[in-house]
Amino acid sequence: MLTSVVKDGKSLGEMIRSRQQSLEAREAARLQEITFGTIRWSLRLDAVVSQLLKKPMRNKDTDVKVLLWQALYEIIYMRTPDYAVVSSYAALTNKMRKGWAKSLVNASLREFLRSREQLLANADASPPSRHSVPEWLYSSVSRDWPDQAEACLLSFNKKAPLVLRVNTQQLSRDDYLAELTAADIDAAVAQLGNDSIAVSSGVRVEALPGFEQGQFAVQDSAAQLAAELLKPAASERVLDACAAPGGKTAHLAGLQPGIHLTAIDNDAHRLTRVEENLQRLGHDGVTLHCADAADLSSWWDDVPFNAILLDAPCSALGVLRRHPDIRHLRRDTDINVLAATQLRLLKTLWPTLARGGRLVYVTCSILKQENQQVVAEFLRGQADAAEVDIDATWGLKCQHGRQILPGQHNSDGFYYAILARQ
Ligand SMILES: C[S@@+](CC[C@H](N)C(=O)[O-])C[C@H]1O[C@@H](n2cnc3c(N)ncnc32)[C@H](O)[C@@H]1O
Repeated sequence: MLTSVVKDGKSLGEMIRSRQQSLEAREAARLQEITFGTIRWSLRLDAVVSQLLKKPMRNKDTDVKVLLWQALYEIIYMRTPDYAVVSSYAALTNKMRKGWAKSLVNASLREFLRSREQLLANADASPPSRHSVPEWLYSSVSRDWPDQAEACLLSFNKKAPLVLRVNTQQLSRDDYLAELTAADIDAAVAQLGNDSIAVSSGVRVEALPGFEQGQFAVQDSAAQLAAELLKPAASERVLDACAAPGGKTAHLAGLQPGIHLTAIDNDAHRLTRVEENLQRLGHDGVTLHCADAADLSSWWDDVPFNAILLDAPCSALGVLRRHPDIRHLRRDTDINVLAATQLRLLKTLWPTLARGGRLVYVTCSILKQENQQVVAEFLRGQADAAEVDIDATWGLKCQHGRQILPGQHNSDGFYYAILARQ
């Protein structure tokens, strides 16, 4: 699976989820720890591996390089006994039908055990390796957030808390907290979001009280601000333009059941998850379209919306701590393309907004190019658009909108701007 992330750009989360279904809880948790941990630290581990190899590994042997990352992860971060790691990972090369690599793996790991401190010190001498991020990402964060860069980079590699949003159509946050306490689960109100709870006990989501009944959704506390900022009012027509997997759609539907909510996504597979989530939480009456939001003729009935949520496709660098594979899946060249898509979506959707209506622009990116620069460019070209100040204490006020950096408020990184049509 790790090789598929690195070579084929596959998402680790999706691969893991299907594999975990056939495992018992303890094994599923161990699989998650090893794979997510290895990918999280892969660029630091790679800086060690490249010192251990006499020449770079050939592309077709990426799996052997990944095997070394994983073995080193177990030694450094999981404290698996050294001898067990060396013998079992060397033996794995036979299972991979790469018996030729057995002595290489064996010798490399033994060399690491002999010179561990020096090898790690060499790797950590380079700041991008020390933080286990590609150089372009290190430079972008340092350029955009010089004062916060170190804290932001450190929080990329911390494990994210499990955060829930209580379905207040069913019960209050206090009532659900009491249910958790009664079930002996450590939990407390999270720093952001009116209905959020951070769970500190290591429990499977499906095993939490009220999962089947839809008493809560899993949603980071910073993500919960989107629907709160849009503040849907009864009988308004509301559009969720990029909806899947439906975290914010469900929040909008739960905040104000009297709205006429339309949710769109251009990915049919992801849209089925919106349906499942709405069903579990008991929100019906949402109109779903599988369509390109920018192709108005394919889905819009020409009746304007009072409020639009544009949770635009983005680099997702703000959620790197939850999706550590993003450091391999994203390239610096993606950012220009994403910023162009974000601006195009904003411009195309604008005419669907009623005069006097508002649009909340959201990304889970932390790069200015995808956030305030998109909004600035949009405002320059749109005479009937005005920014509405976000009256809040969270995050950082930007030239346009507000930015939450990963780790601030113990939440993911998110960007928000509110635009009103005059
Ligand atoms: C950041 S995610 C949305 C997350 C979602 N709002 C939530 O809270 O669960 C962005 C979504 O936009 C969708 N998307 C990308 N381009 C789109 C387009 N042109 N039209 C509609 N959806 C699009 C992607 O499939 C993806 O599901």
